[in-house]
Amino acid sequence: MAELLITGGAGFIGSHTCLVLLEAGHRLVILDNFSNSSAIASKRVAELAGVAAQERMLVLEGDIRNSNDLDRAFNSMENGIAAVVHFAGLKAVHESVQLPLKYWDVNVAGSRCLLEAMQRHNCRTIVFSSSATLYGYPEQIPIPETTRVQPINPYGQSKAAVEQLLDDLACSEPGWRIARLRYFNPVGAHSSGCIGEDPKGIPNNLFPFVSQVAVGRRAELQVFGADWPTPDGSGVRDYIHVMDLAEGHRAALEVLQREEPQLLTLNLGSGKGHSVLEVVQAFEKASGQPVPYSINQRRAGDAACSVADPRLAAERLGWYTQRSLSDMCRDSWNWQKANPQGYSQKQQ
Ligand SMILES: NC(=O)c1ccc[n+]([C@@H]2O[C@H](COP(=O)([O-])OP(=O)(O)OC[C@H]3O[C@@H](n4cnc5c(N)ncnc54)[C@H](O)[C@@H]3O)[C@@H](O)[C@H]2O)c1
Repeated sequence: MAELLITGGAGFIGSHTCLVLLEAGHRLVILDNFSNSSAIASKRVAELAGVAAQERMLVLEGDIRNSNDLDRAFNSMENGIAAVVHFAGLKAVHESVQLPLKYWDVNVAGSRCLLEAMQRHNCRTIVFSSSATLYGYPEQIPIPETTRVQPINPYGQSKAAVEQLLDDLACSEPGWRIARLRYFNPVGAHSSGCIGEDPKGIPNNLFPFVSQVAVGRRAELQVFGADWPTPDGSGVRDYIHVMDLAEGHRAALEVLQREEPQLLTLNLGSGKGHSVLEVVQAFEKASGQPVPYSINQRRAGDAACSVADPRLAAERLGWYTQRSLSDMCRDSWNWQKANPQGYSQKQQ
């Protein structure tokens, strides 16, 4: 059992990871400014974890760019904070092209503030949410961690900058225990349907879009490009169930705490690629609902294919994905069906 600070813990990946960490017996402080999430997500995590676990979770509203908020979080536990799982950040690629300063502020300056607070509070263990976006147009498929980092948008640049910052920190002080986890495409929801992905505004990612079409919130899906060099012409991605991803965080924390200080850089993906049209078909099957779509031109900045080589994570963490595309569709649909307006409908 350890005291953990979870930044962005009310968000999509954060909420599912909090549940897994509570179930593993940890004590959590969540720091979130709710700019892209709802406090209801954390309430539901507490309900799912059960009465005994609820006492081990504290939710604080605050910003990672504010050192007072960070100090409040670090001081909230009697025994201090042993490790940080750092999810807080902005993640919309296309918004980042429009608003690069915002992305450098929240993702890079925010991470720097957090790392300064960790130094102040003598905490040297961090799991960082990085992204496969930093591979840009990948040079090989599947993509190993040794592939060149060459982001093609400000979001990817901001993740690469934080990775570099962590690298510099690990070199400057040997005591740091750091995991940089490069996620591929997290989707799905907890099997209860009580927590899931609830993006504000128009979804940027395929799964929430598809499920909002299936539930009747949006008329049709726009497929960007049917002329990619892939088997059916639509883009291919490596989708990972959010519960597999959450379990990957627990495994990374365990390795960091058990082994000597180190810097780990790992892909978290399934190693399997699925095309947009395959996802549409699988979703229709899981939901029993039609998902109408139209074919549009390719979007600038998209790659044909992105699939992880997940072998290093399996070797270092003993972790690999266990849930299939149909599990991802079933669980996304369960969540969407039970919460057609996301968390907002239950706000009272
Ligand atoms: N979902 C993906 O496709 C994906 C892929 C790769 C990497 N990531 C990274 O994983 C992390 C979590 O992603 P997610 O999908 O759960 O996103 P999310 O938006 O659901 O979660 C991020 C959380 O951080 C909070 N937050 C944002 N700015 C903050 C700030 N300044 N201070 C405190 N809290 C703040 C938001 O309110 C939200 O709860 C992000 O860093 C993201 O870049 C996500």
